Amino acid sequence: MEEQKKKVILSGIQPTGVFTLGNYLGAVRNWAQMQEDFHSAYMIADLHALTVRQEPADFRKRILSCYALLLACGVDPDKSVVFIQSHVPAHSQLGWVLACNTQFGELSRMTQFKDKAAQHADNINAGLFTYPSLMAADILLYQADLVPVGVDQKQHLELTRDVASRFNGIYGQTFTLPEPYIAKEAKIMSLADPTKKMSKSDPNPNGCITILDEPGAIVKKFKRAVTDSEMEVCYREGKDGINNLMTIYAAVTGLTMEQIAADFAGKGYGDFKAAVGEAVAEHLRPVRERYADLMNNKDYLTECYRKGAEQAANISRRTMEKVYKKVGLLAK
Ligand code: TRP
Repeated sequence: MEEQKKKVILSGIQPTGVFTLGNYLGAVRNWAQMQEDFHSAYMIADLHALTVRQEPADFRKRILSCYALLLACGVDPDKSVVFIQSHVPAHSQLGWVLACNTQFGELSRMTQFKDKAAQHADNINAGLFTYPSLMAADILLYQADLVPVGVDQKQHLELTRDVASRFNGIYGQTFTLPEPYIAKEAKIMSLADPTKKMSKSDPNPNGCITILDEPGAIVKKFKRAVTDSEMEVCYREGKDGINNLMTIYAAVTGLTMEQIAADFAGKGYGDFKAAVGEAVAEHLRPVRERYADLMNNKDYLTECYRKGAEQAANISRRTMEKVYKKVGLLAK
């Protein structure tokens, strides 16, 4: 019987801090599931995070803590290559070559650049501008077939494909063209303003749940979640708050929207919010416990990220050598 070749997936997350419930349900939890079916590589995109000024001591801690969070969320270093971007020099090396093959005009059209430039008007650095070339390098180094990303990264992935096919056209077949793998999971919205995406920078601290929140705090935030003036727990247009709570409840219990609506028929929003809070708190309990264990075992974490860096270096070296040769650099 012909064995089907497993596809390669790669994704990355910036070490901006503790993951939110949205990061977890919308991305990282899926990564853990996908590692069963694919050759998977997951990285902490620390070089990307340098596009924003970081406080060095705090940044260093955050990188390690985010690495531990990935493992706590079920990303398994025995099943996936789990590494830290800056530990694999090929990312910067290919990033440069690709920057030389990406047009100013293309980068200028990136909506994330425009948004971030507006947010950080005092630090519109060249890295912020060429960020998509580095992201393209992350992906193309591993010859990834699929890249699980949220909609906000879709434009960067399209640029990656454009750059890769242009490079292949000029220098001959070098890179696999990656497909976006947009998670089916719905976006998780702020509990305080369900028209906005859940974010750590939510001005209202009750809007955002992080995966390390204590159970009591989680339950309390859900109790305060903004809903509407009706009474019916059902998924319907215009009921942003309830829709969001139902989405979260479905994601952690596996129930369908119909089952949830039936279970809470005739009950008030108060009961429903309490149930969602309890379910989320229980769901995150093992994640929080695993994280605490990992952070108490730095030797193990070091062993894991060193192994990941070595594996990633071995895979990416082949692409890097090919690229240097194709563009005509002299071998040493
Ligand atoms: N740019 C992504 C973000 O900010 C993180 C990232 C970096 C990434 N390199 C990647 C995602 C490669 C997917 C593939 O969310």
